[in-house]
Amino acid sequence: MKITFDYTNLFQHDKMPKGITKEQFEQNKHLCEKAFSLFTEKKQTDPLGFYDLPDSNVEHIVQYIKKIEHKFDAMVVLGIGGSALGNKAVYKALKTQKSLKKLYVYDNVDPYFWEEILSEINPEKTLFNVISKSGTTAETSASFMFIINYLKTNFPSDYQDRLVITTDKEKGFLRKIVEKEGFAGFVVPDDVGGRFSVLTDVGLVSSAFVGIDIRGLLNGAKSMRKYCHDKELFNNPAMIIALSHVLYMQQGKNISVMMPYSNALYDLADWYRQLWAESIGKRYSLDGKEISVGQTPVQALGATDQHSQVQLYAEGPKDKIFTFIMVENYKKDFVIPEIFADRAEVNYLCNKSFSQLLNAECLATELALTESGSPNLMIKLNEISEETIGAFIYLYEAATVFAGYMLNINPLDQPGVEAGKIATYALMNKAGFENERTKIENYIDNKKKQGKIICIN
Ligand code: PA5
Repeated sequence: MKITFDYTNLFQHDKMPKGITKEQFEQNKHLCEKAFSLFTEKKQTDPLGFYDLPDSNVEHIVQYIKKIEHKFDAMVVLGIGGSALGNKAVYKALKTQKSLKKLYVYDNVDPYFWEEILSEINPEKTLFNVISKSGTTAETSASFMFIINYLKTNFPSDYQDRLVITTDKEKGFLRKIVEKEGFAGFVVPDDVGGRFSVLTDVGLVSSAFVGIDIRGLLNGAKSMRKYCHDKELFNNPAMIIALSHVLYMQQGKNISVMMPYSNALYDLADWYRQLWAESIGKRYSLDGKEISVGQTPVQALGATDQHSQVQLYAEGPKDKIFTFIMVENYKKDFVIPEIFADRAEVNYLCNKSFSQLLNAECLATELALTESGSPNLMIKLNEISEETIGAFIYLYEAATVFAGYMLNINPLDQPGVEAGKIATYALMNKAGFENERTKIENYIDNKKKQGKIICIN
């Protein structure tokens, strides 16, 4: 495994005159010290267990998969947010490398989406995997109820073998169902937050099922971990990500664009989008002051979005910091044939590989955005593999927590998400949420009274 972390363009230089200087970075080292010390202090009480995950024993997953793999050729994960995005990201990243079994992730309650998945799978050969740390999330509960009923109806004699549940080890409705119905049960550890849980049973069961080497993912994370806890700032990629993003936020760069030049890595940028948004976007500081901080993460795809977003990135407001991800070696590649060799419009492409063109475009965009004054970071993976993906995941989990502590907020909670969950319970008439429901009904009435609606028939 090799990952090259090139942070040259985060700093001021001749092509980046408005960049932060290395001296400014040094002057803010106290923020890194604060992040380290809060990490050590809070590890005793807060869900920072992602730190220990690279050392996990995954034998229980390996054994379970061995037992059931001959029966199924696809898995459908039912979960949302941190209980789904990592599963998708790891699968999409690695499925082009190996011939994997199919994974579908139903992370919404859109009936057309259900219809699409149900029409693609062979129910006889599909294992369903319900994932919810709390065991109460409305979207996942709805899908779970639908699918358990479907399985009981269609496979009455062995429906228990067709569904697994990943949830808290003792609390919540889903754990009770595991015990009552006899489903295989996996655990979301107490000390790991939802969006930090991809390297637990949450993400590892589906990964092992499709054929990914889950020990390889953990080994990659382990290699990265030692860099991310190095006290020397300029040896520590997680601290550099955290500090640069925090300092550029102070300069009004409130958007963080992650742009992999690889379709396979696009969902990894989507995973980052949740991690960064939910962890860093907070109203209150650790000492209870209202501060409303955050940086909007955006995912973009190179080279595709060069023809969609890069005009804005290059010439629009200077409110962004960029991260490019390049893959240096592709195991499968195609060479552009020497056709139209006499036509200057296209003959420069002859005999070049697609990956060569893609990576040239990545470099070209890096240069263009540097020249337009946008700070950027280049992360080069020597290849897409379990190790590089595991390392990338650990890097961003650590960077996110450090950035949160530098901003003096709690990166591990999500009170804004909880508020949405409560409003949903109220609107769907869950008992105990009557007051919230009255509040929402008043809001709807008031809106109607204002009459600012156009109905188009
Ligand atoms: O990161 C988080 O905590 C959230 O995104 C949760 O993962 C998401 O809300 C789903 O929660 P649960 O796993 O409890 O169903």
